[in-house]
Amino acid sequence: MKKITNICCIGAGYVGGPTMAVIAQKCPEITVNVVDINEQRIRDWNDSDLDKLPIYEPGLKEVVLEARGRNLFFSTNVEKSIDEAEIVFISVNTPTKTYGKGKGMAADLKFVELCARQIAKVSKNDKIVVEKSTLPVRTAEAVRSILDNTGNGVKFQILSNPEFLAEGTAVDDLHNADRVLIGGEQSTEEGQEAMDALTDIYAHWLPKERILQTNVWSSELSKLTANAFLAQRISSINSLSALCEETEANIEEVARAIGSDTRIGAKFLKTSVGFGGSCFQKDILNLVYICRSMGLQEVADYWEQVILMNDYQKRRFADNIIKTLYNTVSDKKITFLGWAFKKDTNDTRETAAMYVADHLMNDLARIEVYDPKVSSKQMFADMNYLNSRSETENEKQLKAHSDPYEACKNAHAIAVLTEWDEFIDYDWQKIYDNMMKPAFVFDGRNILDRERLEKIGFKYYGIGINS
Ligand code: UDX
Ligand code: UDX
Repeated sequence: MKKITNICCIGAGYVGGPTMAVIAQKCPEITVNVVDINEQRIRDWNDSDLDKLPIYEPGLKEVVLEARGRNLFFSTNVEKSIDEAEIVFISVNTPTKTYGKGKGMAADLKFVELCARQIAKVSKNDKIVVEKSTLPVRTAEAVRSILDNTGNGVKFQILSNPEFLAEGTAVDDLHNADRVLIGGEQSTEEGQEAMDALTDIYAHWLPKERILQTNVWSSELSKLTANAFLAQRISSINSLSALCEETEANIEEVARAIGSDTRIGAKFLKTSVGFGGSCFQKDILNLVYICRSMGLQEVADYWEQVILMNDYQKRRFADNIIKTLYNTVSDKKITFLGWAFKKDTNDTRETAAMYVADHLMNDLARIEVYDPKVSSKQMFADMNYLNSRSETENEKQLKAHSDPYEACKNAHAIAVLTEWDEFIDYDWQKIYDNMMKPAFVFDGRNILDRERLEKIGFKYYGIGINS
């Protein structure tokens, strides 16, 4: 079997960066070049101060420290790295289209196509091209067509190898993956060889039985549907949280009760202000779009409901704040604890926080935010991206803090948007003493100690818990 000695990964983002760092760590004999067109990002990956890495992930610093400069390299030298590699991973972003056909639904494959064209242009010997980005079913076919028709007579094998890591636990997910999926052309010798070569890389640290080989389309579809199933569980529990608030039932108790059934399982049943992140919404929209374009209206409607329920949950949270604050938040200070879409990451893509902020700002609230890892620059970028009001208005209505107690001073209400552990052990008495009364807390993650807060004097509102 072909022994791989040189890998190139195009895209040094949340997926490409940690994945390649772990491959380099576990395969010291393979040179791994991670390339990106974003020069700043590459500079940050190369910074001698490991706190400046562009991505915050627990355990990532240690992995980078071990491999960087040994067999892990970050550069903007895309063409040279492609040329030298036996395997090229495509790990560029595939956002939802913001224009034209499929706007708001389909995945924008512009960057993937550019990568394929570049690989075709510079390759002088046979290569394995691996789709790491989440892509619609049958994208491999498009990539193959570009490579076969624009190349220099070089042979390419296309593999689909979707990433299942979750942000905040990326390094651990890579080290102890439940499964690795490798889709390829099983019917030809070359196809099988390519799959085995990639399998061999992961087998450096994972048991063989966790490395599953499938056909390309099963692999592509499995990625979309794994995310759809996970998101569906959250929307299901969130739909019931609304019902719990109208009754004496408690969503945390219901989740524990149903999660103890091994057929259902306990994970992904945590009610919340709504899921965010770069994948869930995008992948489901994509699935819905594909179903619709194939005339499968009922299937499309079924999955779309997961997104509609998530939108409802975010809106409901914001509406509940307005209703509780005597039907007006105009010029009131509402402090957000957390802005990231989940704890232990600095990523804010599709975070519930920005939608809740937007909703409250439409009612003229002043939002002041503390997040341990998200910069104020990112928060403004998120609000400006929503395009609901001018940048000047966003600057007037939104303020970021680097100290949580300052952020909470004189607030009419506090809303927990991200489940950062540190929020639980704050000096809540001190926060209470410096707030407007009645002091309201809206816990969008059900993480705070309700009893303790109520004893201090807070008016506490959780999700799916009758207050
Ligand atoms: C990944 C996956 O690739 C995406 O399909 C999945 O749905 C979400 O996660 P991610 O790594 O999170 O994307 O994206 P991002 O952090 O934006 O990184 C992509 C990188 O690719 C960026 O640094 C960007 O500069 C780079 N890029 C993009 C290129 O180097 N070349 C391009 O042509 C386009
Ligand atoms: C997800 C998938 O888990 C991962 O396999 C895939 O590769 C990429 O997409 P990620 O988006 O990084 O990973 O994080 P995840 O832990 O899945 O959380 C997504 C969102 O759901 C977050 O906003 C999180 O707070 C929310 N969530 C998660 C809940 O509201 N309740 C839960 O029980 C679990």
